[in-house]
Amino acid sequence: MKKPTVDDSCVAEYKSDMNGVRRSTVHVILAAYVMCGTAVAVDGDHGLMPMPARVEFRSDSLSIGDQLTIELVGHTEPRLDRAVDRFVEHLSAHTGTAIRRTKPEHGKDAVLRIDCQGRGQAVQTYDEDESYSLNVSSHRAVLRAATPVGVLRGLATLEQLLQRDGNKFTLPEVRIEDRPRFPWRGLLIDVCRHWQPMPVIKRNLDAMAAVKLNVLHLHLTEDQGFRVESKRFPRLHEMGSDGKYFTQDELREIVAYAHDRGIRVVPEFDMPGHTTSWLVGHPELAAGVGPFQIERRWGVFDPCFDPTKESLYEFLDEFFAEMTPLFPDPFVHIGGDEVNGNLWRENPRIQSFMRDNQLPDAHALQAYFNRRVAAILANHGRKLIGWDEILHEDLPANCVVQSWRGADSLRAAIDQGFNAVLSNGYYLDHQLSAAFHYQNDPDPTGKVSRDRHRSRVLGGEACMWGEYVSPETIDSRIWPRLVAIAERLWSPRSVNDVNDMYRRLGHVSRQLDRLGPRHRKNYAVMLQRLAGTHSIEPVRVLADVLEPVKLYLRSSAREYTSETLLNRMVDVARPESEAAREFLISVRRFLSGPKSRTDQFESIRKRLTTWRDNHKPFRSVANDSSLLVEVEPVSYHLKLVAEVGLNALDLLVSNRRRDSEWQAKAVQVLDTAAEPRAELVITVIPAVKELVAATSKTE
Ligand code: ACM
Repeated sequence: MKKPTVDDSCVAEYKSDMNGVRRSTVHVILAAYVMCGTAVAVDGDHGLMPMPARVEFRSDSLSIGDQLTIELVGHTEPRLDRAVDRFVEHLSAHTGTAIRRTKPEHGKDAVLRIDCQGRGQAVQTYDEDESYSLNVSSHRAVLRAATPVGVLRGLATLEQLLQRDGNKFTLPEVRIEDRPRFPWRGLLIDVCRHWQPMPVIKRNLDAMAAVKLNVLHLHLTEDQGFRVESKRFPRLHEMGSDGKYFTQDELREIVAYAHDRGIRVVPEFDMPGHTTSWLVGHPELAAGVGPFQIERRWGVFDPCFDPTKESLYEFLDEFFAEMTPLFPDPFVHIGGDEVNGNLWRENPRIQSFMRDNQLPDAHALQAYFNRRVAAILANHGRKLIGWDEILHEDLPANCVVQSWRGADSLRAAIDQGFNAVLSNGYYLDHQLSAAFHYQNDPDPTGKVSRDRHRSRVLGGEACMWGEYVSPETIDSRIWPRLVAIAERLWSPRSVNDVNDMYRRLGHVSRQLDRLGPRHRKNYAVMLQRLAGTHSIEPVRVLADVLEPVKLYLRSSAREYTSETLLNRMVDVARPESEAAREFLISVRRFLSGPKSRTDQFESIRKRLTTWRDNHKPFRSVANDSSLLVEVEPVSYHLKLVAEVGLNALDLLVSNRRRDSEWQAKAVQVLDTAAEPRAELVITVIPAVKELVAATSKTE
C-alpha cells in the first residue's frame, strides 16, 4: 500500500524530536495549565494523562482501604454499574489488595459518590457531553457528570490518581474540571493485512478507555482480507478471508464492549479500490475481468469496483442493509483511498459512461460513486466518512473527510465546508516518536477553533496499519505512543511540555500493562524466543537501544507478504527506545556544565561499557539462533559506537586537547554504524555524536 509521501518537513520534524529534549528543562516542573484563561498550578509528580483541562492539587489525601463504599446517584444504568465494578477491580490489581465495593450505611456518606445527571445520547456520537468534575477531599471523593460517558471519563482519571504511600493507598486531595478539546479521538486498527482477533480488540478497547479515546475505527475490508461475516452474501467472507473474520455475534460483542467504555465503533468498508477480497467471491462487481485471488503482497493494486454498474449499487444497498444494524454509529467509513483508476481507463464501456455523464476523469467517476453510496447510506440512516481522496465539490455536505495525505487536506476540507478528522502525523506504523505525534496538532495555531470553522475540525485518529504487525506485536506499536496522541486530542493546547509528557507516559504505560495490552509483556516473550535456551540478557541489552527503521523503509528492505513471520529483532525492538532517550538526557546534562558532570559521568560510562562488553555474550547467543544471525553486525557496530563514546568521555573528563584526526575517525565510525542493518537502527548514536562534538571544545 502506498503511503503518504514523506516530505522534508516530516523528516525534519522527526529529526528535531530530540531537540525538544534539549530545549526543555529536564527536571519535572510545576506546570500550569489553563481553562478559560485561568492558570492553575498542578503537582509535578502524578501520572495523569491526558492532563485534565483544569486541575488543582491540595495538600491532604483520602485513604483507600479494602472496603470502598460507593454510591451512584442520579441517573443509573447497567453500564455504569459495570464501570464501577471494573474501576474497583483495577484498584485491586494496582494495590495488590482485594478491594471490595460496598454500599454506605444508612445516613452515612460514601467514600466515592458518583452523580450522573442524565442519560446522555441514545447512540453515542461525537457531540456527546464527556465533561465531568471531580472533587477529592480528605474524607470523600465526588464525581459529577452530565452523562454516563462523562462518568466513565471521570473514573479513568480517578484510577490514575491512586498513589502509594508505603503500604497505604491514597487519592490526593484535588479538584478537577475536565472536558475534551476535540470530540473525535480515535484509533484505527487494520484487521485485514494481518488478522487481529477478538482479544486484541478488547484489550485495546480497555486501554483506549483508560486514556479517554472515544472512537475505534475498524478497517474491515481490504485487498488482503474481508473480515466480516455476511449472511446475505456469504461468499464475501467465505472466499475472501482465509477463515479469519468476525462473526456477526462477535461484531455485536465488540460494539457492546466499546459502548460500555464510552467508545464508538466506526466500521470501514474500503471502496471502490482496495477491494480485491470482495471480488474473489463476487467478480461481477469488478471493473476488470476475474478470477481474483486474495492479495498476499502489500501495495496499491488495480482491482476495484465498476461504478458504472447499477447492480453494484443494488448489491451495496443490500450489504449496508445487513451491516448497519450491527454498527449503530451514525457514520460508516467507505475508505476511498488510493484508487489508481487503471481499470477504469482501460475499459471502453466505463470510458463511454464517463463521457455520457460528463465525468472528465477518474476522480470525477469516484465522486459519482461516492454520491451514490452516500445516498444509500442515508437511506440506512448513516452518514459517510472517507479518506481525503473523497474531497470533491459534489460530495454531500454532511460527509466527513479524514485527512491522511497531508495536513493541507484537513484545511482544504474545512475550507470547503466539511467536517474533518486528522490522521496525517498520527500513523503509528511510521514508528516515529511519541514527541513527534505529540507535537502534531489538528489545530496548531488554535485559530481554527476560534473562527467560524470551530466545529469542523472534529479531532484526530491514530492509524495502526497492519502490514508489519501480528497479534503478538501490535500492542507495542500502539502503546504507549498512542497515549501522547490521546493527550493532544483531549487536553488544552497549552499542555505541550515534551519532557513532562514522557514522565507521565512512563506511569501510564505501566498502568496499561495491568489493564491488558501486551506492549511490555510480549517484549520479554519475544526476546526469550530469540535467545532460545540462552539467557535473554545480552539480547535485551541490544534490543533496548534499537529501533525498527522508520516510515516505509522496511518495505524496500525485502519482499514481505501476509505470510512472512513477524518474529525477528525488528519486530521485537520498540518504535521508540526509552534507553536512548534517557541516555541522551544524561549526556546533555553531563555536557551542560561542571556541576552535573560528576553526577552523570559514572552512569554514562557504565552504560557505554555495558554496550561495548555486550557484543561477546551476544555473539554466543546469536551463534545458536537463526533469527539472530542477521543482528550480529548490529551488535558489533554498537560495540564500536560505545568504544567511541568511552574515548570521548575520557577526553572530556581529562580535559585533553582536541585531536581533529581522532574526531574525524570517530564521526566516520558513527556514520557507518548509523546505517540500517537488518531493518534496525542503533539509537544511541546521536548522543555519542554530541560527546564527540564536545571534545573539540576542550582546551
Ligand atoms: C491510507 O493510508 N491509504 C489511508
